[in-house]
Amino acid sequence: MMKIKYLIFCFASLSSYRLAAQTGQDISIGTRHSSLVYTVSGNQHIYQRYLGKKLSDTASYTVMKAVHNAYPGAGMGDLFSPAIRMIHADGNPSLDLQYVNHESVKKGEDVTETIIHLKDPVYPVEVALHYTAYYDEDVITSHVEIIHKEKKPVLLTNYASSFLHFDADHYWLTQFHGDWAKEMNMEETELTSGIHILDSKLGSRADMYQSPLFFLSLDHPSGENNGELIAGTLAWTGNFQFLFETDTHNSLRISSGMNPYASEYHLAPGQPFVTPEFIFTYSGEGKGLASRNLHRWARNYAVLDGNKPRLTLLNNWEATGMNFDQGRLTSLFDGAAKLGVDLFLLDDGWFANKYPRDDDKAGLGDWEENKKKLPNGVGYLVSESGKKGLQFGIWLEPEMVNPKSELYEKHPDWILKLTNRPEDYFRNQLVLDLTNPAVQDFVYNTVDGVLTRNPGLAYIKWDCNRMMTNTWSPWLKEDQSHIYIEYVRSFYKVLDRIRAKYPHLPMMLCSGGGGRTDYGGLRYFTEFWPSDNTDGLERIFIQWGYSYFFPANTIAAHVTGWGKQSLKFRTDVAMMDKLGYDIKVSDLTPEELQFSHDAIQTYKRLSDVIWYGDLYRLISPYEGNRAALQYVNESKTKAVLFHYLMNPRYKEAFGRVKLQGLDPLKKYRIKEVNLFPGARSANPDQDKVLSGELLMNIGLNCTAGRQAPMSSSIIELTAE
Ligand code: DGJ
Repeated sequence: MMKIKYLIFCFASLSSYRLAAQTGQDISIGTRHSSLVYTVSGNQHIYQRYLGKKLSDTASYTVMKAVHNAYPGAGMGDLFSPAIRMIHADGNPSLDLQYVNHESVKKGEDVTETIIHLKDPVYPVEVALHYTAYYDEDVITSHVEIIHKEKKPVLLTNYASSFLHFDADHYWLTQFHGDWAKEMNMEETELTSGIHILDSKLGSRADMYQSPLFFLSLDHPSGENNGELIAGTLAWTGNFQFLFETDTHNSLRISSGMNPYASEYHLAPGQPFVTPEFIFTYSGEGKGLASRNLHRWARNYAVLDGNKPRLTLLNNWEATGMNFDQGRLTSLFDGAAKLGVDLFLLDDGWFANKYPRDDDKAGLGDWEENKKKLPNGVGYLVSESGKKGLQFGIWLEPEMVNPKSELYEKHPDWILKLTNRPEDYFRNQLVLDLTNPAVQDFVYNTVDGVLTRNPGLAYIKWDCNRMMTNTWSPWLKEDQSHIYIEYVRSFYKVLDRIRAKYPHLPMMLCSGGGGRTDYGGLRYFTEFWPSDNTDGLERIFIQWGYSYFFPANTIAAHVTGWGKQSLKFRTDVAMMDKLGYDIKVSDLTPEELQFSHDAIQTYKRLSDVIWYGDLYRLISPYEGNRAALQYVNESKTKAVLFHYLMNPRYKEAFGRVKLQGLDPLKKYRIKEVNLFPGARSANPDQDKVLSGELLMNIGLNCTAGRQAPMSSSIIELTAE
């Protein structure tokens, strides 16, 4: 998974050495524009001195009093939420972590890891705080490693990945909440004294009601281009917790990590306990810069093949549901070929024989082709689609089981459920006990099996349609409180095996809509499914929300039959991220088909800018009746502007759209693209050549002659 250059540096880094800082000496973790500074106190504790904009004179940081313990243990003097809490083998519930030494390891041209080693003076417990600074991307990630040599297991009840302190006059928290088909609603509130928690307790996915990400703005709410803030998220596909505690001095501590809820962990001697990475970026110039930092970091380091092209595709889920057979599918290939997409994606419903998968009540777990629907197997579909110039992909949900399945009959001990209570279903299914190595083998073999039996299979959509309820693991026995942690670790173990054999196979991470939208999973996936809601208007908000934390090439956006907006509008919305289709191509009129075909060609032509360019959110849908965003390539020679008019009032007037990120000295040709066949651009600036300076200060008129509700335009800007 790691980049080659990163690996080379890992081996080269064996030469790292440990330093022992003197009392009062600073340990600095820095990126190009931000600094996180710790210091060793007289009592050998590590205190946070500074977090914020990098200053040219590092001596300036010493003005800040270092008073906040970097990683406070419970049971000692700190009266607020601890970073870590441990009950020792003898029942003592205290932990006092003192500085031992630290080391700095160069892991890549751009990447430096600083490890601060701490230990308890009374108990043989060691904790290493790991901070990885991505210099050019201005991102820092942190995780913690805990190990002990007590005679018996200790009980860990809190284990933050990151513990950050702030001293500002006010704190504004932006969070994203939702539900199925209603993901990523943005909300901003001022934190008051006491505790505010964002978390999830779903087990097999990170989110459904609350997304694992936030902005924390200092002093004032931040805008796109102004305000001081951090953007934070956790690389973990399971229960998370972000705890914000404002104390009596108005100091804020943010504890981020796996949710300790119902997750007390019995840690055996000598066994390292490694927490997931908390990822954050500091911005002194608003949310826009924070997003661009995260996007660049994600493409370079966090998402599988983040800087490589993506496939356009036609999915059959909205068109057929599970009601299809071989003939119907192969007839859809013609539509896909006419559209001009790269790949046909076969969704749910292709498998199971004893209990055929004709609806969501049966068959999940029985991963052989249904002989009635697919008498010639998946291999036939791979080769038939190939004849039409299409690659072929398939849907799997290998972690789950329907009670009406052969898998359930054969392996009742492979299922998470309370044995003395009725089974609790969600979408008529149960979760497999992935902590059991036999189940891990089963999941791995399901994926590997379908890929080996069908050479040429080019894509997988990996779904996960339920969370855990009424959970009990036959495998974990007396360690039931490990289930939430071990489930996710087991999920990653299986994915490690899959990626060892199939390092670059494109895979979409899906979870009944956007239940798995986190950087823990995205290490293994090329993209994620943000929501089952593909209504054009709803998607503006949903994709807008994800754009704060994820780059465009990871956000799958399909044109479907959802929504009453025109095909042009829905296509323009999908084109702002990773374009795909999920429609009955045969229902399109010849003009609509021509338009869609041309749209895919246009998208392919512009995709370098959309996927790898810098994103500027220009006009927020949260603030009025329209939305606009723009991508600019690195050399500022090409930009793409997406403009959506949503529900304007009668004669509502709209100003010009001021662009950002262009070269003021360059001249750009303005060209509205993605027009319906025969339609002409109503943009008065069409085909004009305008300076970057003008476009950024006076702007483009995107609404002249286009006041209709749900109208949209895509404008390509090319430097001459
Ligand atoms: C939920 C996903 O979000 C949908 O796109 C589809 O794949 C269904 N599952 C299939 O069961």
